[in-house]
Amino acid sequence: MAIIFDKERKTLTLHTKNSTYQMQVDPYGFLLHLYYGTRTEGCMDYLLTYADRGFSGNPYDAKEDRTYSMDVLPQEFPVSGNGDFRSPALIIKNADGSCSCDLRYKTHHIQSGKYKLPGLPAVYAGKEESETLEVVLEDAVTGVEVCLLYGVLPEYDIITRSVKIRNDGSQEFSIEKVQSASLDFVAGRYDLITFYGRHAMERNFDRRFLGHGAQVIRSRRGTSSHQYNPVMILAEEGTTEDAGKCYTMSFVYSGGFLGEAERDQYEQTRIQLGLQEEQFSYPLAPGEAFWAPEVVMSFSGEGLGRLSQNLHECYRTHLCRGKYRDQVRPILVNSWEASYFDFTGESIYNLAKEAADLGIEMLVMDDGWFGKRDDDNSGLGDWYVNEKKLGMSLGELIEKINALGVKFGIWIEPEMVNEDSDLYRAHPDWAFTIPGRKPVRGRNQLVLDFSRKEVVDAIFEQICALLDQGNIEYVKWDMNRSITDVFSHGTTNQGKVLHDYVLGLYDFLERLISRYPDLLIEGCSGGGGRFDAGMLYYTPQIWCSDNTDAADRVKIQYGTSFSYPVSAVGSHVSAVPNHQTGRNTSMKTRGVVAMAGTFGYELDLGKLSEEEKEEIRSQVKEYHRYGELIQKGLYYRLSNPFKDEIGAWAFVSKDQTEALLNVVMLEIHGNMTNNYVKLKGLKSGCMYQDEETKKVYPADALMDMGLPMPVEFGEYQAYQVYLKIK
Ligand code: GLA
Repeated sequence: MAIIFDKERKTLTLHTKNSTYQMQVDPYGFLLHLYYGTRTEGCMDYLLTYADRGFSGNPYDAKEDRTYSMDVLPQEFPVSGNGDFRSPALIIKNADGSCSCDLRYKTHHIQSGKYKLPGLPAVYAGKEESETLEVVLEDAVTGVEVCLLYGVLPEYDIITRSVKIRNDGSQEFSIEKVQSASLDFVAGRYDLITFYGRHAMERNFDRRFLGHGAQVIRSRRGTSSHQYNPVMILAEEGTTEDAGKCYTMSFVYSGGFLGEAERDQYEQTRIQLGLQEEQFSYPLAPGEAFWAPEVVMSFSGEGLGRLSQNLHECYRTHLCRGKYRDQVRPILVNSWEASYFDFTGESIYNLAKEAADLGIEMLVMDDGWFGKRDDDNSGLGDWYVNEKKLGMSLGELIEKINALGVKFGIWIEPEMVNEDSDLYRAHPDWAFTIPGRKPVRGRNQLVLDFSRKEVVDAIFEQICALLDQGNIEYVKWDMNRSITDVFSHGTTNQGKVLHDYVLGLYDFLERLISRYPDLLIEGCSGGGGRFDAGMLYYTPQIWCSDNTDAADRVKIQYGTSFSYPVSAVGSHVSAVPNHQTGRNTSMKTRGVVAMAGTFGYELDLGKLSEEEKEEIRSQVKEYHRYGELIQKGLYYRLSNPFKDEIGAWAFVSKDQTEALLNVVMLEIHGNMTNNYVKLKGLKSGCMYQDEETKKVYPADALMDMGLPMPVEFGEYQAYQVYLKIK
């Protein structure tokens, strides 16, 4: 049993293989949080302390007892208005305008299997590998009913959380803020790790001591965004990759979010993650219910490496879905950096011919094939093929490419519209615009109002008509601006619109994958601007960044690796000098870096020398050889490229019989000192052989002292060492 109710002590305990989570219903019916950490038995209510603290109020039920205060006690789901002045997980605006809410325990249910969330992505798991706890709380005065949902996947050390809010009263109220998960820690000193970024430089690793004063990450952009990834890690001070206690919260949602962390006046810590509260005010009429998106939590007592691996395994096998979930993805060439908008059917076909010659398995025709679209100022919304530009029908092009033995994929951006498009001219009210105002433009385009079903339906029809034109096996789903001018012409409740937009997006994607179950969809938003666990439920891979520079990618992919599996990371070899940075790196280096992802190419293959083509042929062979190990092996970070002279990572098979070490020298100096890369995860006591040099190394020495990297002339050399157990 992963979930246990102790009737006497009124505790609810959640166990995973290596962690325990506990809460307790107190004598007044409040639900207090007791513990989250190393797996243990017993009752942790001894951790609660009581004292009369000035200006910390007391619930009426406590009568003369001034030592009982919601302001200090650890809460399972803190609400606004009951005397807890820390950040609330829930703010309800009642019909009378007050924001008070007093939630008390009503009942709970324990079931085998994992709960589902209507219309929202969520981790899934079978009855034999998961359990669900529902704890129902209610406000007796207003009829606000809150059901806290917990999904426990013991083998993965994963606990998921969500909240269902129901109006069981007789008057409408609105949800002004809801955090899907809130965690209180009564003691400890912690670092907060988050991932900030910008277009073409996403998910930079940022670690700082969590002091007094709230630290906040958020997106006001309507998408999870480049600026912060919806993930927080709380690590005990001193925690490393391999040791120390740490916790993560990862949001399974693709819209705006809010993550808060604060050390309070009593040195207690609270972290929370959930929906962005600005521009959010969700009305609930009597009888209606609202589901908050899911937060996935994990605890590791063995450092950050294990914490990441917990999420990788869970996301790869219990969040991603579809035919390609467990498959090494086809190696592709994408036309974007090869020719941008400047192509014809003939030139695309020629790219496919080159691809076939090199063993590349799929051709993706990127932006520019539809409507009037020779630059990024027009055409979005008109998803019909520009046969004049292609010089042939799409069906013909696909057939020709398939005849080469190459699969065909295509780029779309369904959520967008240009003012210069037939769609916009026919339906200007389908775009987000505020009456009487000129909208903010982004890449000269507007955002379609996906909170309206008729808009989603109309675009869905267009996209299906497109996909029915031939054997299209892959779609790159892009989204190239932040959302502004949030005003829907289809509702009077504007506070719902941003969330309903995301629900509309998910509805579209769900319909798409059920109609085309064999389609591989890659998410994208100006590169990695919507790289989140929500999208991974529909698209098992996401274009990691528009920055294809190998040296920058080492950092971007390092940050990404804290939460997302390598199988989700879209990564390609592109031309040099790199189009985003102007940097030169070798084909080898670009290959090694792109192999830490779904692997492909994004350059004009026709312009390469014979020598470079030969290198690509051998990279393709290598990826076929290592693909399974890369996708399904355990991922180890072996350096911090934000601090170290090298970027290093390894994939180790679960049975520890093989490992692939990858190193990129990020700095070079005169009279260079040695870089020894310490391996991880090998089988202690065993010997491993480098397949290429045939040298044999003891696993323990490789892990304790490391492998010296050769010092060669020139920056950004890369090494890939394949080790097999002897
Ligand atoms: C975005 C994507 C790119 C490319 C362009 C096309 O920026 O991230 O990969 O598809 O759009 O316009």
